[in-house]
Amino acid sequence: MQNNIQNNLISWYQSNHRQFPWRETKNPYYIWISEIMLQQTTTEAVIPYYKRFIQTFDTIDKLADASLEEVYKLWEGLGYYRRAKHIHETAQIICTQYHGIFPITYQEILKLKGIGPYTAGAICSIAYGLPTPAIDGNVLRIISRLYALTENIALPKAQKNIFNIVNELLDGYDSSAFNQGLMDLGATICRPFNPHCEICPIASFCQAKKTGQQKVLPISIKNIKHKEINYITGIITYQDQYIMIQNPAGLLENLYGFIQYEIESPYRFIEEFEKQYHLSLSLVSYHGQVKHVFTHRTWHMHIYHFSINEPFGSLYSLDDISQLPVSTAHLKVLKHYLKTMK
Ligand code: ADE
Repeated sequence: MQNNIQNNLISWYQSNHRQFPWRETKNPYYIWISEIMLQQTTTEAVIPYYKRFIQTFDTIDKLADASLEEVYKLWEGLGYYRRAKHIHETAQIICTQYHGIFPITYQEILKLKGIGPYTAGAICSIAYGLPTPAIDGNVLRIISRLYALTENIALPKAQKNIFNIVNELLDGYDSSAFNQGLMDLGATICRPFNPHCEICPIASFCQAKKTGQQKVLPISIKNIKHKEINYITGIITYQDQYIMIQNPAGLLENLYGFIQYEIESPYRFIEEFEKQYHLSLSLVSYHGQVKHVFTHRTWHMHIYHFSINEPFGSLYSLDDISQLPVSTAHLKVLKHYLKTMK
């Protein structure tokens, strides 16, 4: 067997790959679920969610027939809940438009909600062995080092160049092992800092290593505007029940949470609340703040306890709340509040 990048990477993958439950199947439905879960979440965190999800919904039909609430409940804690909504909608589309059979071409898969070029490439190569690149941050880093590319990998032009390189490398090789080999290499050896070049199966081909640039490359200068938002988050109680509302469209679509406003004072909170709900509110106490970081924004939630003296539509006991799909940010708020009540 020829000593080249592809063969070295593939045989390294075959004897050293990390064991994951989604690597024990070629079922495109299971691969799809795993890839969606892995989009913004670490492999360790995904494992129990993946197992529970495919145990509960072992077929696309069962997922399509479930309620959105059931799907959210299984997703609770994993974050980025829009993924769960897309999965549920897509399962229903696959049932009605594809007779319950997961589509088999890259173009059809790319059209599904929540699936971009990386995920489509990963599903097609892993489930069907198609020669489709799956370019994520790991692959951009590895290829940038391998060919000593000094362009900024955050730019579309550099990404297109790397896509073309991987497309050529894949041609005629086991694309599932090649793409997953890149994933494992990026996670364990060709890491962002201090890469383990001494045990890398493709170090002899690496231009960055040859020129001493492996700790400098890739160049990645992002221009993402990360927004910091301050909220007054209201724990509003009536006797031993809490007001929780279901989010409308937005970041935490359909999940339950406390009422919060992007303002600077709990007195302004009272004004906003009374204007919106026509119910009077009393300020009880301050409970500190909780921070929650999303990809493009950070929430600083300043927690205040308020009370109402007549019932309101959306009141829940703590027992009820444990059954509701609640956003991770607001679960943090509740835990923090309860801790400061002790
Ligand atoms: N990250 C994204 N997809 C993955 C996969 N299939 N295996 C391991 N990590 C991944």
